[in-house]
Amino acid sequence: MKPITLLLFLCLMTITVFSQNTIRPGGDGKSWTIETRSTVYQLRVGNDEVQMLNYGNKSLTERPNRALGTEVPVRGGFVSSTPMLEVIFPDGVRDIELMYQSYEIINTEGYQTLKIIQSDKYYPLEVISYITSLPEYDLIEKWVEVRNTGRKGAIKIENLLSGSIFLPKDAYELTHYAGVWGYEFTPQTTKLTPGLKTLQVKDFKSYGSSSFLVRPEGETDGHNGRVWFGSIKYSGNWRIDFDKSFNGALQITGGMNFWDQELNLKPGGSYTTPPIVFGYTEKGTEGVTHILTSYIREKLLPAQHREQLRPVLYNSWYATTFNVNEEHQLALAKVAKDIGVEMFVIDDGWFRGRVNDKAGLGDWTVDTNKFPNGLQPMIEKINALGLDFGIWIEPEMVNPNSDLYRAHPDWVFHFPNRQRHEGRNQLILNLAREDVYQYLYQSFHKLLKENNIKFIKWDMNKQMTDPGFPAAPVDEQRAVRIRYMENLYRLVETLRSEFPDVWFENCSSGGGRIDMAMNSRFDFNWTSDNTDPIDRIFIQDSYLTIFPANTMISWVTHEDWHRQNIPLDFKFDVSMAGVLGVGYDITKWTESEKDIAKEKIARYKEIRKTVQYGTPYRLVSPFDTNRSILQFVAKDHSESIVFVYNLAEYPNNVTPGNQQSPLVRLRGLLPDTRYAVDGFEGLYSGNYLMNTGLEIPLRGAFKSRILKITKQ
Ligand code: DGJ
Repeated sequence: MKPITLLLFLCLMTITVFSQNTIRPGGDGKSWTIETRSTVYQLRVGNDEVQMLNYGNKSLTERPNRALGTEVPVRGGFVSSTPMLEVIFPDGVRDIELMYQSYEIINTEGYQTLKIIQSDKYYPLEVISYITSLPEYDLIEKWVEVRNTGRKGAIKIENLLSGSIFLPKDAYELTHYAGVWGYEFTPQTTKLTPGLKTLQVKDFKSYGSSSFLVRPEGETDGHNGRVWFGSIKYSGNWRIDFDKSFNGALQITGGMNFWDQELNLKPGGSYTTPPIVFGYTEKGTEGVTHILTSYIREKLLPAQHREQLRPVLYNSWYATTFNVNEEHQLALAKVAKDIGVEMFVIDDGWFRGRVNDKAGLGDWTVDTNKFPNGLQPMIEKINALGLDFGIWIEPEMVNPNSDLYRAHPDWVFHFPNRQRHEGRNQLILNLAREDVYQYLYQSFHKLLKENNIKFIKWDMNKQMTDPGFPAAPVDEQRAVRIRYMENLYRLVETLRSEFPDVWFENCSSGGGRIDMAMNSRFDFNWTSDNTDPIDRIFIQDSYLTIFPANTMISWVTHEDWHRQNIPLDFKFDVSMAGVLGVGYDITKWTESEKDIAKEKIARYKEIRKTVQYGTPYRLVSPFDTNRSILQFVAKDHSESIVFVYNLAEYPNNVTPGNQQSPLVRLRGLLPDTRYAVDGFEGLYSGNYLMNTGLEIPLRGAFKSRILKITKQ
């Protein structure tokens, strides 16, 4: 498409989306209805303040008329809910009294946004709340802007969250994802009893994302039933409060975590929070998966690569750790090419002084002991093989044993008279500083400019500690985490705009920093350092509940955390449910191992479009039984890929006397269309496959099958 045609097309799309009237003001100008395809969110002005009435099914015509809570709960008056905003005015007054002023409907990237202005009855504080409707995704996005409209004196913000919703009186259960290094995204389900349940991150490490699902108690069906869900678009410290009152109502509030944080708004100053996304579906967890994975894939992922098929990767980390050198990397690359890899990535160890994890971070020039000719001559040889080249970096960190730290010991977060807490022998650079930002920008701009790098793996391996910035004015010192994140996003965005062809992978000791804000800047996530296929099946099942498969890099490696000696083809089948990568020392592979890899990679290339861009279905969860079954269905329903993994000889509830494998009922096919199924004779209607199901005879632990189902 020519640029001018593309521009016209984009304008038309924008107008089309915007022209959908998703936000309707009431006749009184003091009430609003925000609609998505199937949901409705209602607000009105009552007692001078903006109140929330209802969030749920749009087709229910009889809707509640009593306020469930205030749209922006603040500290002040009766403390009946969790405040989104807590401030101290210059004279020491700490209570806020908000009063409705006006509203406007604005356009945010092609979507309608309701903008409501409230201000304090006496003090110069303006609070603007924004709600965008994303109709085709059944999502709303909320954020808040706070302004000091006075002429003198700063307003201290002690707490400022992004958004809140209230659910009617009922018994609710919360599901969220928690984890530690190696065991990311472990689902946790808990009953919400009266009181406050808080999920939060205080050290920049999350291992499970800020995504949550709330369901009425007892509604557990995978693809039916009500679910309110959400996620915060923020990668620093975040917080979500589930505040259940004794009478049964539930308030869900989330945003940036103001623990050990404050902002001082000078006269004329303002601050805008990151957004929180809320959704509602009546299609159970599957409904949540379909909404979030489509939204991330179609709207959030960086536009440059959004529609592109993800390449098959090789990554050197498990093969070599820090012991990288030109000769061995070239030998790996040759085999990688031979088995079908498309992108060759050198992980840690390539830069000056990096012989182990005790030195080198911060000195971002190539180690000429390991690469005597520099990087580019080796990259050219790798390119000549027909492979693209990628590299690992960890911009936010420094080892005390580095030239950078020796020259600038004050560039790390620290407090005077206090220990600098090292983790993995490293400290965090204070990215709130402009000189640190400029140093990192120059270093990586140069690296990308001088070398034909097409893939960056961006790592971050230490928790936030010692958040001191002694050189900053005292009233700005507790805002360092906010400024750090602003500069982190700025750094990624600047490099991406200057090097638009480069793919970016987000890693933080595995999946320690995966969220929607990262996914709007990075093409992929490294989900876990745990590449044992058994654990991966669990991690992948949870990850794929929220995030699309085209963001999930998954390598086949020699890692065997449970000493099960798992067959190579099973490992491939597990990794093929995402973006396939290989991490073995493949120079040591036997011919038969190479043959398995070749066959699997060729097969992956046949199915990857449907895996990466299809609609995901988690048919059988490994958390329920010792089998896992995933299905991906092409958008036009012409093809479906089913992954079946056995974790034990007999799936649960199947005894040796009853060895029938359970029937697998597929989903998402066209009922009246006939499909061929790999390895099965004859044709089957979608109706049959979805209702009667297929018997997949798979016996034994660590056996797997991948079925391709094709429309005839
Ligand atoms: C932690 C990452 O999660 C690993 O994949 C690897 O890149 C190492 N860091 C390198 O130090």
